Amino acid sequence: MDQSSSLSRMDWVARSCRLLAATAAEFRETRPFEGLTIGTGIHLEPKTVALVMTLRAGGARLVCTGNLNSTQPETVRYLRTQDITVFATQTTDAAEHGASLDAILAKKPDLLLDNGGDLFARAAERPYANLLGGTEETTSGRIRLLPMRDRLAMPILVINDSPIKQFAENKHAVGQSLFESYLRFTNRSTNGKRVTVFGYGACGKGTAASFRNAYATVSVVDIDPVTTLEAHLDGFVTPLREEAIRTADILITVTGYPGIVTAADLPLIKHGAILMNGGHFPHEINVDAFRNSPDVAGIDRYEAEQIETIRMRDGRAFHILGAGHMANLAGPRPLGNTVESMDLGFALQARCLERVAKGGLGKEACVIPVPADIDAMVASAYLDLAR
Ligand SMILES: NC(=O)c1ccc[n+]([C@@H]2O[C@H](COP(=O)([O-])OP(=O)(O)OC[C@H]3O[C@@H](n4cnc5c(N)ncnc54)[C@H](O)[C@@H]3O)[C@@H](O)[C@H]2O)c1
Repeated sequence: MDQSSSLSRMDWVARSCRLLAATAAEFRETRPFEGLTIGTGIHLEPKTVALVMTLRAGGARLVCTGNLNSTQPETVRYLRTQDITVFATQTTDAAEHGASLDAILAKKPDLLLDNGGDLFARAAERPYANLLGGTEETTSGRIRLLPMRDRLAMPILVINDSPIKQFAENKHAVGQSLFESYLRFTNRSTNGKRVTVFGYGACGKGTAASFRNAYATVSVVDIDPVTTLEAHLDGFVTPLREEAIRTADILITVTGYPGIVTAADLPLIKHGAILMNGGHFPHEINVDAFRNSPDVAGIDRYEAEQIETIRMRDGRAFHILGAGHMANLAGPRPLGNTVESMDLGFALQARCLERVAKGGLGKEACVIPVPADIDAMVASAYLDLAR
């Protein structure tokens, strides 16, 4: 028998990120981050390791934290074995997470790689001289950082606003992984179920399509009538909000905004409904208000499954997955989005950080989309590997 070896998920993911591997090989020669520290505030899970190691191949010193709820202890342990500094706990507590963010900024990184605007929002309040700029991964971060542009006044490239991120991750991968998460959490079917998706942006489009492809009847609710028309013409049911909640067996929020489903909606929620969130922050479904409502008789918790059942005084009961945190990064064995989609998105991250490190952008590039030439470079590299 040939020699065999026992490998981890970290190895599987690293070997699957072919674009990052090619980028790392180039960075080992070009060393774009030589002498620079990069502070990261993005989900600490195996795909992020592949990005972090790529940046390190480019000469960077890394200080890393994660986001609320999504930090995977195995990933933290692995990064530490690679001599990467990590300040992160697997917490849902904003104050505890805030302490990790402060610890990153105390290291005064030259570049920030942010996800949800946590690091840049703090840096806007407490600026320091050597911060060159960096990247922001999400829609939610863009919404948060745009009003701070005058104070930030440095290049910040928003990965989410690349067409590649929009179609590869938000549309295709978030849809697939929220569908996968529903199955993984619940072991329940989708066939013949009525699904309501709140938000028909890129993530909502993929989510609605994935559940429709799995033999569910999908309704879409979007606050924007033009987007709702698009959903209608795409063949989805587009009832009024109240009707959409009342009829949903599975209700999914993926808007990026708070208070999409609140305690005021409790009388509408169908007996047996399953609620889950795919948006970045856990504020889309107001789970705390549900828990504290006088109309609630009790709560059953399936601890290991991270499923909560809310029992109403009128006899109805409904379920919440992962306490309303991003379902594809919560619950048992959270896998997140597909490796290929993250390989593409993280290749954009690496190239954007390289551009900022090289000083190729001014302060007018504060909270702007990925430059088109970087999109073209990453797309060509992926296609070359796929051919
Ligand atoms: N789970 C993941 O892995 C993952 C990955 C990428 C993005 N995200 C997050 O998903 C969320 C959505 O991202 P996107 O790229 O689709 O955003 P988007 O801006 O493209 O779409 C959001 C949609 O929600 C709609 N909307 C806003 N308020 C609403 C309301 N009250 N009711 C109904 N619809 C409403 C908007 O009109 C818009 O069409 C963000 O929080 C983003 O950070 C999650």
